[in-house]
Amino acid sequence: MIGRLNHVAIAVRDLAAATRIYTDTLGAKVSAPLPQPEHGVTVVFIELPNTKIELLEPLGEGSPVAKFLEKSPDGGIHHVCYEVDDIIAARDRLKATGARVLGTGEPRIGAHGKPVLFLHPKDFNGTLVELEQA
Ligand code: CO
Repeated sequence: MIGRLNHVAIAVRDLAAATRIYTDTLGAKVSAPLPQPEHGVTVVFIELPNTKIELLEPLGEGSPVAKFLEKSPDGGIHHVCYEVDDIIAARDRLKATGARVLGTGEPRIGAHGKPVLFLHPKDFNGTLVELEQA
């Protein structure tokens, strides 16, 4: 059911400092910051030949990334995102197996302008999983 690894997301306290690590130290190209108030984050994307890295900085009150950074003050891997061909079919199949879909269970528009859903980390080996419509 799952397809390509779309991205790995890393939570950071300071997006500008994290961007410099990727540009100056690792020699990568980093996109301009994109505020996503609906998701409580500002994101940048690092395009790699085979996938992307998404850096997430908390934005606004009650950001889920702020909570994550309380537990992991140095930052860390926040979620992995897999592509699926049909996000509604994928959701229904997962729910039928007992997996928990976060929020209302309805897809929201993610950072790439495509529908996304998040799955409960406790059902996926302690890893928050994002599904994105391919
Ligand atoms: Co993501």
